[in-house]
This record gives sequence, structure tokens and C-alpha cells, in this order.
Amino acid sequence: MNDPIVEIRNLGHVYMAGTPFARKSLDAVSLAVAEGEFIALIGPTGSGKSTILQHINGIYTPQTGSVRVLGRDLGEPGTDLTLLRREVGLVLQNPEQQVFERYVGDDVSFGPRMSGMSGKELTGRVRWAMDQVGLDFKTYKDRPTFALSGGERRKVGLAGVVALKPRILLLDEPTAGLDPAAHEELLECLARLRLQGTTMIMATHSMDDVAALAERVVVLDKGRAMLDGPVREIFSRADEIRSLGLELPVATAVVHELFGRGIGIRRDVLTLTEAEDAILVALGVRI
Ligand SMILES: Nc1ncnc2c1ncn2[C@@H]1O[C@H](COP(=O)(O)OP(=O)(O)OP(=O)(O)O)[C@@H](O)[C@H]1O
Ligand SMILES: [Mg+2]
Repeated sequence: MNDPIVEIRNLGHVYMAGTPFARKSLDAVSLAVAEGEFIALIGPTGSGKSTILQHINGIYTPQTGSVRVLGRDLGEPGTDLTLLRREVGLVLQNPEQQVFERYVGDDVSFGPRMSGMSGKELTGRVRWAMDQVGLDFKTYKDRPTFALSGGERRKVGLAGVVALKPRILLLDEPTAGLDPAAHEELLECLARLRLQGTTMIMATHSMDDVAALAERVVVLDKGRAMLDGPVREIFSRADEIRSLGLELPVATAVVHELFGRGIGIRRDVLTLTEAEDAILVALGVRI
């Protein structure tokens, strides 16, 4: 790997350390991310996904181990976290926590304004960011943020982060709770941002999103990184994935089910198109 832009070494995290409520949530996690990669973090509830994302954004300081992001050591007391967060955007699991201005336009422009942008440049940037996430500038810029639907609020939260043109985008369950159309739209938006070269790290419970977007997947369990590799390879290890209580992408599950019933079929399948192809080959309809 070229010089990683995120390098986590033996990171440990205990919430409420030193109290009777102390809870170990990361246990010697190591992870290196190269510029331009799209990595999915998967794992059961409470496995540490959100905690890792918050470390990469400098919300937490490493208690044990180290976190280096874009050449900065986040354990160093002198590290400028405001500058870091201009380059490392975090879209929170709960968009309610992210949208705080009264009007959509003000909310999306907050980050660029704080970094000194104004006038036409600022308007242009807000329009661009809203466009990226599929929010029409004219329709939404003066809409009160309290009157948004959950899906719209999520887009506004994402636009506010995208508006800073971060080099690294951290996404915490970005598609949770969206209807199928909004879900599809968001996937397209993330694919577009990725094509622009943004490095993406996404925590998710949707294995189909992982199959659609990510190139590499890191599987967490009880604060430990259990598996790390290319998406196709990791999902072909169906038994290990299932033993951790996780699902497979729908297409992968279908071919594994057929294989389990004695049908000779390829199992390194991620998408429905690939599953269809594998089934036709297994049936002898296609070679
Ligand atoms: N603010 C907090 N205070 C105390 N414990 C916490 C806090 N946040 C998380 N935890 C605990 O740390 C562990 C890891 O939590 P984390 O939120 O990172 O998991 P996650 O993988 O993101 O889970 P989910 O899929 O439910 O979002 C869990 O056991 C959780 O209960
Ligand atoms: Mg989480």
C-alpha cells in the first residue's frame, strides 16, 4: 500500500474508564487505509464501528495505541483538530445530531463559512454540495430544517459535510431507515463522491450496500477486527460471517443456499446480476 492516509495501530478504547460502568469497546484494532479506498466496517451492534469512526475524526483521543490521519498523530496534544475535520468529514449515525441551523442553506453553508468562505464562492459551494446529495438548491435552501423528513434531514447532514470537500468521508450507517428510492439515490450519491477520489469509510448493517459500493471490508466483533480483505473474498467465507451473527448480501446468500442443496454453482457472487449469471451457468443455459 502507498503511504496510508489513515493508520490505526493497536487502538484500544474503554468508555467510562475508571468507573464501575467501564466498557471496553475497542481491543487492539489495527487498520490502514489508502487514499481513494472505499472501506466498509461491518459487525454486530456494539462491535465498535461508530467508536472507530469517531477516533478517525478526532472526537476521541487514543487511550492505547495510535491513530494517524493525513500525516497527523491524533494522540499528540498539539494536533489541530479543527483543521483535521475540514479534511475528514463525519456523517453521524443519527442525522438529528448533525442538522442544527434553522434553514437548510445556512446549515449546509456552516462548515465553509467557518473556514472563511463567503459571497459567490460560498453560494456556489452550497449549491454544489446540495446538488451532490440530490437536494435541489432553489427548492430546499430556504426550507426550515425542523420541517424536513428523516431522509431529507440525512441529505442535509451529508451535504453539510460534503460542502467542505473532505478528502476522507466517514459515514455511519448512511442508509439506515431510508425508503427504497431514497436508499438508491444515496447509493448513487456515494458512488459519485467516490469517483471524485474521496476516500470513504462506511459503517453499515446493510450487506447489500457493502456489495454495491465497497472494495474492502473490515469485520468487527466485540471491539476486535476479525477479518479484513476484498469484499468478494470476505463474503465468500459465508460460515465465518454467519458465525459472527452477520448476514450475507442477498445475491451471495442465494447462491450459497443453492450450493448447500447440492447444486454445483459459483459462490463468489455479490450482485443479483452475477447471481443470475451463476444460476444460468449452473442450469447449463449459459456457458
Ligand atoms: N458514549 C458511550 N458510553 C458508554 N458506552 C458506549 C458509548 N458509546 C458506545 N458505547 C459502548 O461501546 C461499544 C461499542 O459501541 P459502538 O457504538 O462503537 O458500536 P457499533 O458497532 O457502532 O454499534 P451499532 O451497530 O449498534 O451502531 C458498545 O458496547 C456500546 O454499548
Ligand atoms: Mg454505530
